[in-house]
Amino acid sequence: MLNIAVLVSGGGSNLQALIDAAEAGKIDGRIVTVVSDRAGVFALERAKTHGIPWTVIPTKGNPDFDKQLLAHLKDHQVDLVVLAGFLSILSDEVIDAFAMKIINVHPSLIPSFCGGGYYGLRVHQAALDYGVKVTGATVHYVNNVVDGGEIILQKAVAVQSGDTPQSLQKRVMEEAEWIILPEAVAKICEERDVKHAKTCADQRI
Ligand code: GAR
Repeated sequence: MLNIAVLVSGGGSNLQALIDAAEAGKIDGRIVTVVSDRAGVFALERAKTHGIPWTVIPTKGNPDFDKQLLAHLKDHQVDLVVLAGFLSILSDEVIDAFAMKIINVHPSLIPSFCGGGYYGLRVHQAALDYGVKVTGATVHYVNNVVDGGEIILQKAVAVQSGDTPQSLQKRVMEEAEWIILPEAVAKICEERDVKHAKTCADQRI
């Protein structure tokens, strides 16, 4: 079973989708910590309600954020880090220490409407401004390029006439993000377990 850390910055609806999937036995992993980069966000209430350990490590005015995060992840023996609406950019130090062990959910079909400055409602506003008829969500590995890592899963969602950034965000969450994020985590947990079992068998552990 993989130890999972979920990093959040806001409402935590993607965190909720992960909690629900884990509680339903769909993920062969356990959420061992929820980390927020700001205090008072609703995502932390979700962690509390489900008895999941949580902490706040602020990024604002905190030059030691990355060191504190790394220490926290190591203390909790974290195998997989999930950025679920986490709006700070991680340093190379953290990304390199957890290479191919950090994933992110982004509310568009990458490579559209992604990279620096594209987060939350801004992504949906940009999609509406461009006039695309299809958007969606992407789960990808995190590397040193913002939203540039290997894609794991994507799901398309139709834009409807009269959509606002808010209505589009809601539909993309309901029809894509809350589905593909738990699926990607389940897939990774399953693959890592198979890899581990194979290594053990090969080495007769
Ligand atoms: C989600 O739509 C997520 O994809 C987006 O922020 C929202 C957080 O909602 N993330 C980004 O834009 C990252 N670039 P949540 O807190 O309810 O999960």
